[in-house]
Amino acid sequence: MLTKTNVQACPFARDLIDGLSSMPKSLPCQWLYDQRGSELFEAITELPEYYPTRTETKILAAHADRIMSAIGPQAALIEYGAGASIKTRILLDAADRLATYVPIDVSAEFLIQTADDLRQTYRDFAIQPVVANFLADITLPALPEHASRTGFFPGSTIGNLSDVEIQHFLNSARQLLGASGHFILGYDLHKSADILIPAYDDAQGVTAAFNLNLLVRANRELGTDFDVTRFKHQAIWNEAFSRIEMHLVSQCRQSVRMNGQVFNFDVGETIHTENSRKFTQISIEQACLTSGWTVQETFNDPDNLFAVALLKAN
Ligand code: AVI
Repeated sequence: MLTKTNVQACPFARDLIDGLSSMPKSLPCQWLYDQRGSELFEAITELPEYYPTRTETKILAAHADRIMSAIGPQAALIEYGAGASIKTRILLDAADRLATYVPIDVSAEFLIQTADDLRQTYRDFAIQPVVANFLADITLPALPEHASRTGFFPGSTIGNLSDVEIQHFLNSARQLLGASGHFILGYDLHKSADILIPAYDDAQGVTAAFNLNLLVRANRELGTDFDVTRFKHQAIWNEAFSRIEMHLVSQCRQSVRMNGQVFNFDVGETIHTENSRKFTQISIEQACLTSGWTVQETFNDPDNLFAVALLKAN
């Protein structure tokens, strides 16, 4: 059981207490990603309804040569929230004499594995993993002298950040990457709810399992007593904020306990667990303008589902 002292020392416990004490109830989406949550997210990226991953991969495959030649030779490629994914390899394959690849991720174990895998294929440039939360201040390792710096932030993870976090993130990236810096940003586009809702509430129930796993995780790690069968996954399109919201909806009046604290739920009351913002080219250009970046070029798929922007430091 968590004592009062270790509740204070445990960020997940603090967020849970704050989030379940607020009206409406909410939890930061970062807690969706324990081992099981990360596996379920990987499964989501392969669902027929979830278009972002395969669409972005196709855009990158079609335009990687152009993007990497605009960046120029001897660049340092710095990936925020690195995945072991095909997308990174597309850029690495298209790069002209890359100086170094710097994957940044919070999971040390995952990063070491990714770096080892990449070293099997890529022997002509350094691979310098950095264990860090990409929203926090990042200290880079010593990079090859004269290497220009390019950030890579794929997957529309930018859509899971608040406006304040987006500004802070783009500003910090601008400071880190410097006056000759570039940034490759993948973002999901505003579109019909008929496409969006199934992408976040799929027929096989994988996204539902991903969302509900948050309660399973809380029970295991924090000793809460959520009855997971009494909550349902819901995806809502919020047009006013141009975002998909994920919620966990209480199916009855119920109470949940943690460490002597009681949290009451009405029927239909929800825990808001994630926002996934959908952008337009204009909304991205505006966010860039106020954080030291200019959109140099934007690449889309033929159906205008997703976009990859190449940004240049102002
Ligand atoms: C990681 N992130 C960009 C995903 C998204 O589409 O917002 C997370 C996700 N949530 C439900 N499905 C996918």
